[in-house]
Amino acid sequence: MSDLRVAVLLSGSGSNMEALVRSMTGDHPARPVLVLSDRPEAGGLGRARALGVPAVAVDRLAFGGDRGRFEAALAEVLEQARPDLVCLAGFMRVLSPDFVAGWAGRMLNIHPSLLPRHRGLHTHRRVLEAGEREHGCTVHEVTAELDAGPILGQARIDVRPDDTEDSLAARVLAREHVLYPAVLRRVAQGVRGPLLLDGDD
Ligand code: GRF
Repeated sequence: MSDLRVAVLLSGSGSNMEALVRSMTGDHPARPVLVLSDRPEAGGLGRARALGVPAVAVDRLAFGGDRGRFEAALAEVLEQARPDLVCLAGFMRVLSPDFVAGWAGRMLNIHPSLLPRHRGLHTHRRVLEAGEREHGCTVHEVTAELDAGPILGQARIDVRPDDTEDSLAARVLAREHVLYPAVLRRVAQGVRGPLLLDGDD
């Protein structure tokens, strides 16, 4: 059977992309075929090229707020790479329901909270403000509703008394780098039940 083809979409530094790409070697059933950014200045593009993965930007700003045209351009680049699976990894655009529907069950996202808690932005701050004692990250299928698709895996950490927004961000990000590759491997193997990881290590 041929390898599953994976595209990664990002907007920023691409540390999750790097964790995913580095995981897809040896007996892994998937291989990276494209890294795509909506921001030409995203650090993840250079990082992908350094890893030997083709990296392309579709500059969202060039479409002057016309989401339909932006998504059409995105789709065109994606289709050329013929991915079987798309991983959003710090991709900061909300995709339209029509676009998402075309990838139903084949598009994953990582979110820095224990969904369904804290959809959207500023999750670390919100966890601290709510006085919560646990936090973490979630990999889920992307559906039309933001951060709400079926959960494929979560990594949980304890919130420490001295945690700040920055320390939580760093600790959660380190878990993202473990969780996302683990879930990708399972999905590539056809396993969809939720994976639960506990603790910092
Ligand atoms: C991660 O925290 C991810 O959960 C969020 O954006 C961040 C991306 O970081 N959606 P990176 O670009 O993978 O380093």
